[in-house]
Amino acid sequence: MTQPSDVGDMRPEILMMTALPQWDMEPLDAAYRIHRYWEARDKQALLADCKLVRAILTTGHIGADAALLSALPAVEMVACFGVGVDGVDFQATRARGLPVTNTPDVLTGDVADLAIGLALAVMREIPKADTHVRSGTWKSSELPLARRFFGCKLGIVGMGRIGIATAERAKGFGCDIGYFNRTAKPSLPYQAFDTVQALAGWADVVIVTLAGGAGTRAIMDRTAIQALGPQGFLVNVSRGSTVDEAALIEALQTGGIAGAGLDVFLNEPNIDPRFANLSNTVLMPHMGSATTETRQAMGQLVRDNLAAHFAGQPLLTPVE
Ligand code: DGY
Repeated sequence: MTQPSDVGDMRPEILMMTALPQWDMEPLDAAYRIHRYWEARDKQALLADCKLVRAILTTGHIGADAALLSALPAVEMVACFGVGVDGVDFQATRARGLPVTNTPDVLTGDVADLAIGLALAVMREIPKADTHVRSGTWKSSELPLARRFFGCKLGIVGMGRIGIATAERAKGFGCDIGYFNRTAKPSLPYQAFDTVQALAGWADVVIVTLAGGAGTRAIMDRTAIQALGPQGFLVNVSRGSTVDEAALIEALQTGGIAGAGLDVFLNEPNIDPRFANLSNTVLMPHMGSATTETRQAMGQLVRDNLAAHFAGQPLLTPVE
């Protein structure tokens, strides 16, 4: 509800689902009257005060579900910080004719870098070696030999922007590149596979870069994980939902696959505790786009999309 002190405040009202860095908060605060969902103890009371909210600023993962959208009668758009939009209920946004924006392109390079980094980390056992040196065990023992990344057969699941950027980097390592994509990409100079299972059976390491959401749920299923075999590695920089996590943990526990490098999990940040006991995994807290340069570019793009919307200009990066 508008307070007496707000009279004359012409800033459009927006609902932010999570905090952004200070370099975003300052310009956002200057341009908008912000309702801070993440800070509110009583979410329902906060939403009751959001009747004039015209935009939701969220992440693709948190998204905007039907209940949230229905609590906001004046909402006009959803702006996502991130390229993934799996948390957005598109049925609900379409029903209301609400545009949704995301932040593609600016994070592609960082996520692709991390995909290669995780493959190197798990195959060359970099974190384990780091611990070995720090803990002093180097003096008394040697680590087992690691596995070579350069020249390996690299399978990429999902040949969108991030998949292609990952392949570009892998070329520099002399990798033999194969891929699975849900729609054919005949122009790509890499070997296409008809199924994820066939790709996994061929590859030494599979990197998943797919978008999350219902269409890709557990696409890396038990059969595909088993097809990797005891010498195979899995890297996931997309969404935890793209992999059958129970089957993955089982394969990692039993030597069904050699190892995994994971930036994403099913239930973040409350990940399955069994991951912590697996010595053949490298775990990261969903940091694919987490560099200063990229996070600044993402914030700028979110703000540019909001500004375009409120100026009646075309959105810069509409998802639909
Ligand atoms: C994205 O942009 O979707 C990243 O995974 C961060 O959520």
